[in-house]
Amino acid sequence: MTNIRKIHLRVILDSRGNPTIEADITTDHGYGRFAAPSGAVTGMYEARVRDPVEALSYGREHVIPRLIGEDSLDQIGIDALLHDIDGSSDFATIGTNLAITLSLANATAAAASTGVPLYQHIGGLFIAGPPLPLAHVLGGGVSTHMETGIKEFLVVPVGAPSVTEGVFANAQVHHAIGSLLAAEGIFCGKGDEGAWSAQVTDTKALEIVSSAAAEVSDDCGFGIDIGIDVAAGEIYDPETKMYCSRQGDRSPEEQLAYISELVRDYHLVYVEDPLFEDDYELTAELTAKVGGFCLVCGDDLFATNTSRIRQGIQAGSANCVSIKPNQVGTLTDTFESVKLARSHGLETVMSHRSGETTDTTIAHLATAFESVFLKTGAAGGERIAKLNELIRIEEEME
Ligand code: PGA
Ligand code: ZN
Repeated sequence: MTNIRKIHLRVILDSRGNPTIEADITTDHGYGRFAAPSGAVTGMYEARVRDPVEALSYGREHVIPRLIGEDSLDQIGIDALLHDIDGSSDFATIGTNLAITLSLANATAAAASTGVPLYQHIGGLFIAGPPLPLAHVLGGGVSTHMETGIKEFLVVPVGAPSVTEGVFANAQVHHAIGSLLAAEGIFCGKGDEGAWSAQVTDTKALEIVSSAAAEVSDDCGFGIDIGIDVAAGEIYDPETKMYCSRQGDRSPEEQLAYISELVRDYHLVYVEDPLFEDDYELTAELTAKVGGFCLVCGDDLFATNTSRIRQGIQAGSANCVSIKPNQVGTLTDTFESVKLARSHGLETVMSHRSGETTDTTIAHLATAFESVFLKTGAAGGERIAKLNELIRIEEEME
């Protein structure tokens, strides 16, 4: 039997040293665990997060008793029940952090109860294999108080013959960037996602990442391309309608031209949130211009939310959707977003959050949903936990 027998909630540490909620779910024949990640640069359309200690006591009193005895194999039913208990449209009552923790701990318990890996339990028998890793290797933006106006500089080993080789190539690029920064005497630290963080301009950052990627590409014998997460909502001032960073102030049209130029000059294959999250129109213009060879991805733009993705599809805003399960709160909601995107020809990128735990579930979800990339850092315990799981999944599926 796969009925839920026991649920235990606890508060644990996340990678920033903040409390986060973790759930253990036990059925008659299996056991599953998940812990909630958390964003720092959270889009305004994400579901609501509750204080973990409050969410835990609310969960023990009002949520767990309703889930005990339910069939863990009925994921859609469990997720519908979570919505029903919550009663709001954005998990304001129980918190998206509690909802996603219970939803994904349940999926993990269900997979264990039936004796199949999580990616197979969710994705079925004929999934292609794990996705390539998209790694955040150099960061800046407002979140680290560093110079760059762009939040993240990313690499993706597009030519890698295997995911495992790609994972190692990204780590090598991460090392090479550290060496290049040191060789130039540029003082650097590391951000929340393990990426280097330095006082450099956007173009200097792109030059460093390009040289590091080229160096490693020569060494590995396959192509490594570059991407950015602009997180433009962070630098947009709705009053003046200007994008303002230490890299200068730009009107929306200037921002569009700036990003288009970067895509052309650095052969970017991935651009996330190039404009602030309500600018469907200019994001569509960028996609029309560069979408043939570059993935224009909505993270804050869509917030993994089907009504926002639908709006984006109508406007032609992007050709890729960032998928962060805790932005919506359940596995079913996550699946609905993936299904909607894929049915309209948009790619998906499964993504970590800046605050993470050593949980590996998103590696399975990225595989099950056939995401084009899994976005994480390249180094650091909570990031490598996911990357090493990709390696294991690839090995298992060979
Ligand atoms: P977050 O940042 O997890 O802090 O939201 C990651 C991103 O913007 O992609
Ligand atoms: Zn983002």
